[in-house]
Amino acid sequence: MKKQDIVNLSWDEFDEMRDPRPDANGFDAVVERAISRRGFLGGVLAFGSAAAVMGSGVLSSTTSAKAQVSAFAFEPIGIATDHDIHVPKGYAWKTLVRWGDPLFKEAEGAYSPETGVSVDMSDKVFGENTDGMETFVDGDKTILAINSEYVNPKINLPAASEGMPQNADEVRLLKNMQGVTVLEIADSGDGYEVVLDSPYNRRITHETQMTMDGPAAGSDLVKTNADPEGVSPKGTMNNCGSGKTLWGTYLTCEENFNGYFGATAEREATESEKRYGIGGEGRYAYEKFEERFDLSKEPNEPNRHGWVTEIDPRDPSSTPVKHTALGRFKHENAEMVQAADGRIVVYMGDDERGEFIYKYVSDKSWAEGQPTDGLLSNGTLYVAKFNDDMTGEWLPLTPESTGMELADILVFSRMAGSKVGATTMDRPEWVAANPLRVEVYCALTNNKNRGVKANAGGDEQPVGGPNPRETNNYGQIVRWRPAGEDHGADGFTWDLYVMAGNPTVYDNVYAGSENVNEGNMFNSPDGMAFSSDGMLWIQTDGDDSNEGEFAGQGNNQMLVGNPDTGEIARFLTAPNGAEVTGLSWSPDGKVAFVGIQHPGGNWPDGNGKPRSAVIAVWREDGQAIG
Ligand code: FEO
Ligand code: CA
Ligand code: CA
Repeated sequence: MKKQDIVNLSWDEFDEMRDPRPDANGFDAVVERAISRRGFLGGVLAFGSAAAVMGSGVLSSTTSAKAQVSAFAFEPIGIATDHDIHVPKGYAWKTLVRWGDPLFKEAEGAYSPETGVSVDMSDKVFGENTDGMETFVDGDKTILAINSEYVNPKINLPAASEGMPQNADEVRLLKNMQGVTVLEIADSGDGYEVVLDSPYNRRITHETQMTMDGPAAGSDLVKTNADPEGVSPKGTMNNCGSGKTLWGTYLTCEENFNGYFGATAEREATESEKRYGIGGEGRYAYEKFEERFDLSKEPNEPNRHGWVTEIDPRDPSSTPVKHTALGRFKHENAEMVQAADGRIVVYMGDDERGEFIYKYVSDKSWAEGQPTDGLLSNGTLYVAKFNDDMTGEWLPLTPESTGMELADILVFSRMAGSKVGATTMDRPEWVAANPLRVEVYCALTNNKNRGVKANAGGDEQPVGGPNPRETNNYGQIVRWRPAGEDHGADGFTWDLYVMAGNPTVYDNVYAGSENVNEGNMFNSPDGMAFSSDGMLWIQTDGDDSNEGEFAGQGNNQMLVGNPDTGEIARFLTAPNGAEVTGLSWSPDGKVAFVGIQHPGGNWPDGNGKPRSAVIAVWREDGQAIG
């Protein structure tokens, strides 16, 4: 494959190309176990009875969903295949901030449709490929912290570069476009606007100085030539989903960090590198211009990435902290709640085919006003095991349970999870906790390897439990209820909130669950967040060809799900080519901020290059939208 074609691959395609999984098809029984739509509904009946025990009614939910007239405040919209945004009647939207828009007056006009943004201005403008975001309030000021996950070099680099950096300056340009943007916004009466030169405005990039805490900080695994103490890493990368601490700081989650590292000399990958997809050539050729990214020179540098990193958006001089206690994997997002006794609980997904769902529980409890020191550095990491009988348990990852040293458990959490028999999942994306009851949802976006191949650690991916479909191209959302309504509990019960699918193409398990129909179908749920009224907002990052098994599903979209009735309705459609990712609200709940990543065509400018952007959406009658 040509170099310039590599940048067009998705991150998971890139990983599979560099490190093909063995074709270990030991799943002859899979076809027998793959369930028909009818059989699946039988499964839902079982969910219903289990759910009844839990106090909810999945059976009634899914049967009533079809018959119901929309209970939502909006009229659901149809699919779209164009290069525009669509929202329901009575709602309006505008572009809040695009890649290349200035954060400071000196960067006004920095973006040009012909050449993009210059190196000098690249860390004074909004970053590329917007993703997770959260809203913060400081006095009467409103602040957004927003991830910039990766770059689109063919668009971001000057035309002569052929889609790959040709020199150190171009590497610097790409590094500056990623990471996190903190910016102040002000209510303009029509969806807010960016406050130029606000003291809060800040870019955090692949170069920003950070610290590390927790048991793996200072261990030999994270020491490098530039940082022999192993406590001062530079940069946060592939910032995917987000989280917000209960004390008002931002959590940015490092996902496909592995792709930034490459080797300039022949070397054999270690077992842990293979598990994390580290080796070969880096996606953006960083290693050719900087030793930090060259595995031949700095084999420990990748161990300093793949963490949850905490940023204080209200203090622009603060140093971001990588929390090793929360484990190292391809972090999607970090959903923080509290156990019944006040301990801090963080739910997290590892987005790769056949990887796991984790939770972190702090040693100490916390209440508002108390010090927060140590809450994200002293605790226990657990991994989820889902049983076929719709129960599950959190397995602690400790030296006793894994036979590994604590620092190794945290740096190589995937391998620790394998040792205790965690359940291989269909690519865990965002986790969202229902604010109205003790219940947690995780989007399992899709998994073409389910029932076909093992994961990178050799763990089988059998069909069953919360991953009930072989070659799962549509995805599903699993939810669990902690035992005793306590996020600190070791046990839980689970069911599937929805199985995405296509009921016009299939009449079997690939048609999806009963709450999926011709009018609301979608594939590949990814971003998720609850609004304060207890509605689940679902964002998709899937196949938007509108053809074949995806016919009738249109562009990527954002839907709203009712946890009680199971009803799901389409709220927004994205421009073709884009995924919808990242969702947060204005402090009064009247404006939703929505991320539009990697749009195609010329969106939103209509000329020049497509630009990822955060849009603002609001109700024209001034009511809250969730
Ligand atoms: Fe960055 Fe798993 O999405
Ligand atoms: Ca995602
Ligand atoms: Ca995704």
